[in-house]
Amino acid sequence: MKQFISVQDVPDINALVKKALDYKQDPLKDQLLGVGKRIGLLFLNPSLRTRLSTQIAARNLGMEVIVFNVDKDGWALEFEEGAIMSGNTVEHVKDAAPILGQYFDILCIRTFPSLKNREDDYSELVIQSFAAYAGIPVVSLESATLHPLQSLTDIITIQETFKDNKRPKIVLTWAPHVKPLPQCVANSFAQWVNAWNGADFIITHPADYELAGEFTKGATIEYNQDKALEGADYIYVKNWSTYTDYGKIYSNDPGWMLTEEKLQLTRFARVMHCLPVRRNVELSDEILDGPSSLVTREAGNRVWAAQAVLSEILIDKS
Ligand code: CP
Repeated sequence: MKQFISVQDVPDINALVKKALDYKQDPLKDQLLGVGKRIGLLFLNPSLRTRLSTQIAARNLGMEVIVFNVDKDGWALEFEEGAIMSGNTVEHVKDAAPILGQYFDILCIRTFPSLKNREDDYSELVIQSFAAYAGIPVVSLESATLHPLQSLTDIITIQETFKDNKRPKIVLTWAPHVKPLPQCVANSFAQWVNAWNGADFIITHPADYELAGEFTKGATIEYNQDKALEGADYIYVKNWSTYTDYGKIYSNDPGWMLTEEKLQLTRFARVMHCLPVRRNVELSDEILDGPSSLVTREAGNRVWAAQAVLSEILIDKS
């Protein structure tokens, strides 16, 4: 694997899932693979799970890890081609990224969208600039539109928990939230489930919360949440702000919060969320603290997803 920015960088999803589950059984089986290699984790935004799980994954492969909080400790970066840098930005990505390419063997980046300008965010200017100028493999730790390490983890979690001899029914449902959030996790989950093609997939949300068709193509869209939940095996809960009239909250109907009562419509569905979660806004305490919740297992699996991806990149580089 040359980079990991979207599902399109993955030649075989099932093989990558199997590799991750093999690492879960035997975390140190490739502990010499990354010896003498250095990985840089650049954070332009906060993180708990991604920051820690990717470090553990890299160390399991023998790599040296350096974490750099660009948002707090770095120079303000400029990304615009031809910019006259007389404002607040101090260093152009064209100058910074090649230096990072000298320091590291793999560069990982977290960069959230502005939610102000859809064209800028959906062009993935920040992560694509690092990929263009660093000269080394780049791994997304969540970018403006996608969160592929989370989505790989989600497929791993479904694969390891689904024991029936049929295709699972997966429902991605919008949930209320107190502030406008990116579409990344929902876009990415839709992109991966569609590419995986191992499930019947329904997306449910209020009108006006349509996601970009490039990611949802292949899924059924259902505006009636109760109808969508009927017979579900997995429910993936996530808030996102509007895509069409970009970055806004339209309705924030608390009736869309998943509750134990709604779970009765399903086929004993397991409930997933990428975390962090706003309790009793997005998901009720009774679900998060109950037996249907997969959220802790899901977050634990972030290590194996990251380890499988880094391993594939190291093998490709060697
Ligand atoms: N799910 C996820 O990416 O969590 P963090 O934002 O804490 O890394």
